[in-house]
Amino acid sequence: MGNVVIIGAQWGDEGKGKIVDLLCERVDVVVRFQGGPNAGHTVSAEGKKTFLHHIPTGILHPGRICLLGNGMVVDPEGFLAEIRALEEGGVEVAGRLFLSHRAQWILPHHRALDCGLEQEGALKIGTTRKGVGHAYQAKAARVGIRACDVEDGAELERRMALSLRAYDAWRTQLPELPGFSVKELVAAALRYRQELAPYLADTVERLQTAIAAGQRVLFEGSQGTLLDMDHGTYPFVTSSNTVAGAACAGAGVGPGQIQGVLGVYKAYATRVGEGPMPTEDSGPDGERLRERGQEYGTTTGRPRRCGWFDAVAGRYAARINGLSVGALTLLDVLDGFEEVKVGIAYETPSGRMNRISASAARLARCRPVYETLSGWQADIGKCRSWEGLPAEARAFVERLEAAIGIRFAIVSVGPDRDDTIIRDPAALDALFG
Ligand code: GDP
Ligand code: IMO
Ligand code: MG
Repeated sequence: MGNVVIIGAQWGDEGKGKIVDLLCERVDVVVRFQGGPNAGHTVSAEGKKTFLHHIPTGILHPGRICLLGNGMVVDPEGFLAEIRALEEGGVEVAGRLFLSHRAQWILPHHRALDCGLEQEGALKIGTTRKGVGHAYQAKAARVGIRACDVEDGAELERRMALSLRAYDAWRTQLPELPGFSVKELVAAALRYRQELAPYLADTVERLQTAIAAGQRVLFEGSQGTLLDMDHGTYPFVTSSNTVAGAACAGAGVGPGQIQGVLGVYKAYATRVGEGPMPTEDSGPDGERLRERGQEYGTTTGRPRRCGWFDAVAGRYAARINGLSVGALTLLDVLDGFEEVKVGIAYETPSGRMNRISASAARLARCRPVYETLSGWQADIGKCRSWEGLPAEARAFVERLEAAIGIRFAIVSVGPDRDDTIIRDPAALDALFG
């Protein structure tokens, strides 16, 4: 079978793009199942950097079929611009990129409301301002727009009017929001439907046919476990389920059709936007991690908040995703630190704790308990074997593994596809069957 879900095990930007890219050669189909243009996945290979937002990383691998599943929210204009940029860069897209006709559309008023609420500052989430939350809100409120609905003009108009009614209610509170008419949004939807036509498909049908034919599928998660709408640091989360379980609903497969889950962790912690992050370091260590790791958002350019690895959050992520195996990225960023730290528990007003609190307010009061290990004074970027790593780096990785209960089959030591140590090829062979 060999169908594998890859998810972010922290607050996003763990290097999922790099790891998915690395593993694409083992599969036939790559599927995104949640999120939308809030994602920013970077692939660095053969001297070229590519940033992907909607489109699965598999697009950079000729011959791979790429699906955008029903669980996604897609900005038609952004999606088409992304295709154009790929084609201009010489990537062949036609005939192997398909967008679910059930995927929800992000419309101009969703984006406007996201920006307006962020500017006003009352919600204080620090979203990517792409309209993602408002498109998911319309979905849940049953007034969302999907390609398969646009064929029926009367129904499209009815739904658009309902959707705009909610938006116009916001305009009474936020007068700086731009106005939209049902007519112009319906016209935009009809245009999008036409422009998207070459890519629209029943992706569930395609996926199930591929699986039945024995093809292998990689499900590419976006965001990270601590940003999950149910399991993350609510309300400082994204508006979708980001955990591995979401691959089933968001792509149209059953749990029994998935063989395993690979969790991507970076060797320290980062977060963009608001919300609790117990190991955040606002001092020189955090600054050094940001500069060494070039921790600036792929989608928004915002500086990421940085700190040491949070093993409490890491263990939680390993459990709720049912991880089979892990990949550890950005280990090279820790080169040259005299000491490296791991947050192994939290100190709280009511004593020591080793689990994540469901309440963001309580989590914000947690202080990390650190274990300090020796750093390594070497450049590990050229290491290609586990044994070639300095003993201190190996001890650090092993400490993380013991703390979270997951083995890292891959250790990444640089952004490039080749900057990678395949530490446990047998575990990967077992995962991909
Ligand atoms: P994603 O959203 O999880 O795909 O991660 P992003 O692409 O947003 O952020 C990860 C960043 O780290 C990108 O700029 C990658 O090129 C880079 N990266 C990935 N792995 C490594 C690594 O092992 N070392 C270094 N130095 N950079 C890496
Ligand atoms: P990738 O796939 C990191 C964060 C935003 C904000 C919160 C809600 O590249 O790992 P949203 O726009 O989704 O409503 O914002 O979620 N966020 C991400 N942080 N990586 C991402 O994606 C993110 N996508 C959303 O910064 O805090
Ligand atoms: Mg990213």
